[in-house]
Amino acid sequence: MPFLLLPTADCRLPIAHDRKDPMSTSPSHDLFEAARAAMAKAYAPYSKFPVGAAIRTSDGRVFAGANIEVASYPEGWCAETTALAHFIMDGGGEIAEVAVVAERMAQVTPCGGCRQRLAEFARPETRLHLCNEQGIVKTTTLGAMLPLGFQGDILK
Ligand code: THU
Repeated sequence: MPFLLLPTADCRLPIAHDRKDPMSTSPSHDLFEAARAAMAKAYAPYSKFPVGAAIRTSDGRVFAGANIEVASYPEGWCAETTALAHFIMDGGGEIAEVAVVAERMAQVTPCGGCRQRLAEFARPETRLHLCNEQGIVKTTTLGAMLPLGFQGDILK
C-alpha cells in the first residue's frame, strides 16, 4: 500500500522539527530554561499559577526563583522577587537580562511591584524575555514595562 512506502525521511521531518525547536536557537534560551526549571519548584497551592523567573547579571551569573505563596494570601511573593533575593545574596551587581515564564499563561509579564524591584538593579534598556513553555516568544525592555518609573537617585 502506497502509504507504507513513504520514505522514512518524510516521516521524520516533523519529529526533527520538534527536536530542533527554533526557539532554542535564541542566545538567551538558557535563561528561559533556568526560569522554567525554577517554575517547577513553585509553591503556589492557592493560585495554582506557578511562575519562574531568571536573571542574568552583566558579569554572567544566573539566578532563578519561583513564586512562594502562604495561607495569608498577601504575604506570598513573586518568582522575580525570589530570583532577586538569590542575586542580592550573591553580591548583587547589574542585571543584564530577565526571563519570566508561567505554566498557565504565555508571555506573562512581571507585576508592577516586581517591575520596580527589577528596575532597581537594571537599566531601561535591560532586556526582558516573555516566554511560553517552549521558549522566548517576545523580548521587550524594563523601560518599556515601567515607563516613568520612580527613580530613587535623590534618596541616595
Ligand atoms: N506571580 C509571579 O510570581 N510573577 C509575576 O510576574 C506575576 C504573578 C505570582 C504571584 C502569585 O503567586 C501568582 O503568580 C498569582 O498571582
